[in-house]
Amino acid sequence: MGGRPVQRIVYSADEISARVAAMGRDITRHYPRGEKLLVLGLLKGSFIFLADLVREIDTPLQVDFLVVSSYGNGTVTSGDVRLVYDPEAELAGKHVLLVEDIIDSGNTLNRLIPMLERRQPLSLELCALLHKRISGPLAREARWVGFDAPPEVLVGYGRDHAEIFRHLPYIASL
Ligand code: PRP
Repeated sequence: MGGRPVQRIVYSADEISARVAAMGRDITRHYPRGEKLLVLGLLKGSFIFLADLVREIDTPLQVDFLVVSSYGNGTVTSGDVRLVYDPEAELAGKHVLLVEDIIDSGNTLNRLIPMLERRQPLSLELCALLHKRISGPLAREARWVGFDAPPEVLVGYGRDHAEIFRHLPYIASL
């Protein structure tokens, strides 16, 4: 594969799939049938998680994506966030479920949530596979969290380091 080897598998593919299935069941129970649900994935990190999660949600839904870019290029995100791709789907009148791979510093969400709230969705909830629990107060706390993650650089299952490792079926630390 090249680059740095992974050090330790933190969450195996089996552990992830069991947790994602349980989250999907919870989410299914939460949303009233017959109301519009829009699952909004934050790219790129959430692409595998979202693909697995929506297949565990047993209610009609729409899928769209947001591309947000943080300025800077390190393992620590900088404070500024830019919307690079904006969802075509209307948010107004829909229950919006924002799907994130990880909440780290919370900067991304703290800038994104107010932007989405201004579009007046019926409701706005957040689902994150990993939560490091190291952020300050969040604009909105995640209603669904897969795992409370250790304060390490985590890759795989959508997450990268320097754009590699996203394809790994498990989550590992570097
Ligand atoms: C990562 C991750 C979250 C964000 C979390 O995205 O996908 O969106 O950082 O960090 P924060 O809580 O400190 O803001 P990244 O900018 O690495 O882009 P990517 O999803 O395209 O990999």
